[in-house]
Amino acid sequence: MKDVRTDGQRKRVFIRTYGCQMNVYDSDRMADVLRPLGYALSESPEQADLVVLNTCHIRERASEKVYSELGRLRDLKLERRRDGADLTIAVAGCVAQAEGEEIVQRQPAVDIVVGPQAYHRLPELLARAARKSDERRFDGQRRPGAGVLDTEFPAESKFDHLPAPSEADVRAGSAFLSIQEGCDKFCTFCVVPYTRGAEYSRPAVAVLQEARSLVAAGAIELTLLGQNVNAWHGEGADGSTWGLARLIREIAEIEGLVRIRYTTSHPRDMDDALIAVHGDVPQLMPYLHLPVQSGSDRILDAMNRGHGRDHFRRLVDRLRGVRPDLALSSDFIVGFPGESDADFDDTMRLVDETGFASAYTFKYSRRPGTPGAALGDQLDESLKTARLAALQSLLGTQQRAFNDSKVGTIVPVLFAEAGRKPGQVLGKSPWLQSVYVEGDAGMIGSIVDVRLRAAYALSLTGEVVTGQSPSRFEAAA
Ligand code: SAH
Ligand code: SF4
Ligand code: F3S
Repeated sequence: MKDVRTDGQRKRVFIRTYGCQMNVYDSDRMADVLRPLGYALSESPEQADLVVLNTCHIRERASEKVYSELGRLRDLKLERRRDGADLTIAVAGCVAQAEGEEIVQRQPAVDIVVGPQAYHRLPELLARAARKSDERRFDGQRRPGAGVLDTEFPAESKFDHLPAPSEADVRAGSAFLSIQEGCDKFCTFCVVPYTRGAEYSRPAVAVLQEARSLVAAGAIELTLLGQNVNAWHGEGADGSTWGLARLIREIAEIEGLVRIRYTTSHPRDMDDALIAVHGDVPQLMPYLHLPVQSGSDRILDAMNRGHGRDHFRRLVDRLRGVRPDLALSSDFIVGFPGESDADFDDTMRLVDETGFASAYTFKYSRRPGTPGAALGDQLDESLKTARLAALQSLLGTQQRAFNDSKVGTIVPVLFAEAGRKPGQVLGKSPWLQSVYVEGDAGMIGSIVDVRLRAAYALSLTGEVVTGQSPSRFEAAA
């Protein structure tokens, strides 16, 4: 391959993002850090000088994917080198944090390994990697330990050093805003406390400032992010300690902001104030992702979730008490070590009693270094597969019923992108359902009233309502 820098000094970076929305946010931040160094975003590794894999470690399959991708990138790098050019390969994210040096051992073509707390140091890491690359003379042979590594948890917050977000961080009227990172809950199946470090809340002033600049840059929807977003707390402008509830109330005051969402929450941190906000902040969308993982008290205890099934049921009742149209979503793990038929039945019953509008379901994946991995009574893959299928079938029925229940109503849809067919656009309802309508690209980034006509398993179709007041929904909320 020829030198890709055919357009003068401009360099190109390709960032591939795996895992959760925190990683999506971080990838944008990395692009912001690299822009002043002359890097524009590229659409593929083939057109890039630098490739960043922003990785996820949550389940085995997620982290193994990274190594197959690295194998392909190594081939590309060798091809470049034969032509006298180069490709810089960086591994970021949770695999970088969890495996560090091991990554360079397994794939010596990797130049940089950077953990999620060190993205503001990318410029320095790139410069160091460039100096090292000559002496490394990577030729496809295993020569471990040559990459540049930064997986320390720094004392300072990366947020203080990252550039402010810009128009590039608002997509079709919508933007993510990380307000909290890390986790102190140590669920026994989960790697996040090890890959993202201790729970950290960004100061309220910084969050509000970023929220205002995102709205000024065109965002009409903000999604507040955190591994435990509802554990967020910080000193407010008035000197008192605010929780997420107060923060949402303040953010709702920003003129021009129409929709607020937050994710992911832990049932233990759903306090009274936050429940109340669902009842009286109309900008807060009637949709909540509240992972429960299991419906069995015994398994919840073994998972160290810190609450039982009744706590979850009561939370749901109270949330629906203040916001009757609230759609619930959740995460479930089947096949945690020791999960019996009776435990799994408890999960099925909890789902049945609760009613979910959507859900993410996973087979338990044994993660090195977590307490769950050391437990006896690991379940057979075939049993996990069977339980997953049964749970998905029940949840699928519920999702379809929820979608059906909206047919015939008029809902405001925030249009995000072109649909699959020409002349079609795709957007999100307040309940985060995918809605397709006939329309033009000019609708993307705005909220338009849609009469829903038909429901499917994962989406709905409808038509734009003309001559309706867009405030209908807000008034009904
Ligand atoms: N902080 C969030 C979840 C973060 S991880 C919370 O506390 O709910 C996202 C989801 O991945 C989890 O909710 C869980 O359902 C799933 N998950 C995490 N570790 C897993 C593992 N070892 N095996 C299978 N699923 C897992
Ligand atoms: Fe993982 Fe539990 Fe923390 Fe969520 S609360 S990130 S599942 S340890
Ligand atoms: Fe994956 Fe890390 Fe997110 S492990 S789910 S990318 S916090």
